[in-house]
Amino acid sequence: MITAERISALREQVRQWRAEGARIGFVPTMGSLHEGHMSLLEAARQRADRVIASVFVNPLQFGPGEDFERYPRTPEDDRRLLADAGCDLMFLPAVAEIYPDNRQSATRVTVKALSEILDGAVRPGHFDGVATVVAKLFGIVQPDLAVFGEKDYQQLAIIRRMTADLDLPVEIVGAPTVRSPDGLAMSSRNRYLSEAERAVAPRIHETLRAVATRIDAGERTFAALEAFGIAELRAARMQPDYFEIRDAQTLYEPARTSRELVILTAARLGKARLIDNLRVALR
Ligand code: PAF
Repeated sequence: MITAERISALREQVRQWRAEGARIGFVPTMGSLHEGHMSLLEAARQRADRVIASVFVNPLQFGPGEDFERYPRTPEDDRRLLADAGCDLMFLPAVAEIYPDNRQSATRVTVKALSEILDGAVRPGHFDGVATVVAKLFGIVQPDLAVFGEKDYQQLAIIRRMTADLDLPVEIVGAPTVRSPDGLAMSSRNRYLSEAERAVAPRIHETLRAVATRIDAGERTFAALEAFGIAELRAARMQPDYFEIRDAQTLYEPARTSRELVILTAARLGKARLIDNLRVALR
């Protein structure tokens, strides 16, 4: 596996692969890789001839007081995992390579409305940081396709919308959430959990499932179901930021035309803020 720290080196390699007619798959990450990321790599490998993964903790998507400084950085482990997973190139830029001279990028990409609800309401500016860095990375790598995890459901929706609105020639692939056997969604931030917190963390998925089962059984009192979700998470000593039932396509409140719903939640547990979601088809 090649490691490139500079945009110029990455571009040179991509040029060569393109000259050979290769289809390029891209997996953007912030590193601290786990099985969830490996499934994104696998999804890219199945669809592309060459796979590039970026490892970049993007300062633009962290708000004041958030965990940018302490976000786990494990580049050597990441390198090994990516090489074992058959990644062809690891792009590992310094912050100054992406944002030269400390310029935070005068240009921001904002996906209106979608970026202001749910996680965007709790983390103002977060999704502008995500959309901006992903647009930059797409410009740098120029992939044919890019894979993102469905665990970050709202992020995936925002990236799909940005790509469509800006006519970027990149196919966006969503990959299913990878879970531990007890249901906890894999996340780099699970590392922040103490042993006791890790033991209760699966209650998030259990609560999502309980609500999904009730919707599946015909319950349509969404406000009551959301209140139930919040109460369940609080009972597990978590501090939920939201527990919302939305249309799976629009992320707005369910409409009579909704065919599929998604239940989304974010909750604080000790030093970690965990997010998860579950989709339910309507019959
Ligand atoms: O999901 C992530 O890890 C990040 O938000 C992403 C897409 C790599 C952008 O920094």
